[in-house]
Amino acid sequence: MFYEPKKGNHGLPKNPFNSLVIPRPIGWITSLDTAGGVNLAPYSFFNAVSYRPPTVMYAAGAGMSPADGGDWRKDSRRNIEVTGEFVCNFTTWDTREQMNATSETLPPDVDELALAGLTPEPSQLIKPPRVAEAPVHLECRYIKSVEIPHWEEVDQYYVVFGEVIGVHVRDEFITAEGLIDVAKLRPIARLGYQDYTVVNPETIFTMVRPDEL
Ligand SMILES: Cc1cc2nc3c(=O)[nH]c(=O)nc-3n(C[C@H](O)[C@H](O)[C@H](O)COP(=O)(O)O)c2cc1C
Repeated sequence: MFYEPKKGNHGLPKNPFNSLVIPRPIGWITSLDTAGGVNLAPYSFFNAVSYRPPTVMYAAGAGMSPADGGDWRKDSRRNIEVTGEFVCNFTTWDTREQMNATSETLPPDVDELALAGLTPEPSQLIKPPRVAEAPVHLECRYIKSVEIPHWEEVDQYYVVFGEVIGVHVRDEFITAEGLIDVAKLRPIARLGYQDYTVVNPETIFTMVRPDEL
């Protein structure tokens, strides 16, 4: 099969694209509005992009249009661009339902963290709180947003970059050898459609790079 995205000629009942770049980690992002209101939402166009300094990105699609009273920005992007700070909370098997609940489209003043029954925990270096139930948190300082070329206004995506200035790992997830115990963390990741995957001890395997043999 071959198709050209612009022509949409895949002949399938659903656009297959988000089932082809998988699995995608989920950045579960906390931010604050200018009044100090908490916002929490999951983003799976999310990844780490460099080490020094550690940098992450996520891509935000269109929020409410000006015709509906918005400025096209989803709440997280607006908050981050205005306040300059955000936290990436780690999503695991244990918080999968809460993560999903916080994806609901709600008015900007609704605190999704509280609504999902989660516990806010202060960050060390920035104002947005961490999700206490998450075992790993990245405290981030906003770098910049990059607009991605789009076909129509509703297709707009902006990549939001942040420098990771503080990292929290719950101690129980560090092994005696000083490694991150990924099998114990059980991170979840996004597949296409409504599917997800979870990292289990059975699905982790090790390979040594030729240069490191
Ligand atoms: C697992 C998952 C991944 C998501 N990934 C994205 C994404 O990468 N980009 C995006 O714009 N929306 C994504 N969404 C939808 C947003 O979470 C949703 O629009 C949310 O209401 C945005 O909240 P905000 O306006 O408070 O930022 C995702 C939803 C789920 C459940």
